[in-house]
Amino acid sequence: MVNEQFTDERNAANGHYGQTLKRITLYLSSMKDKVIIQICMGSSCFSRGNARTLKTIQNYLKEHNLEGDVILKGNHCFENCSNGPVLKINDQLNENITQENILELLEKTFNQEV
Ligand code: FES
Repeated sequence: MVNEQFTDERNAANGHYGQTLKRITLYLSSMKDKVIIQICMGSSCFSRGNARTLKTIQNYLKEHNLEGDVILKGNHCFENCSNGPVLKINDQLNENITQENILELLEKTFNQEV
């Protein structure tokens, strides 16, 4: 009786973990081809241009129908304030971001005309 109950619980747990693993695998495979943009939202970068740069990026992605291909997220200070504003595209740190060079960077990343 105890062994049967244990087996039932173990099978239920294995089913639960199997489904969770399947969901994680599907999630990771859906993420693998996405460009990851991490924009510094620390106070220095935010006040020196990244607040506006965030809107520029969002507009660019929308205008070029790229929203589904990108994970755009804000980050805390990258501890590189003296070279800010900064952002990362696929772990590549980009410094001294301006309204002009962000468009060049997005063009280069997505190989599209503005
Ligand atoms: S606030 Fe952006 S690197 Fe520090």
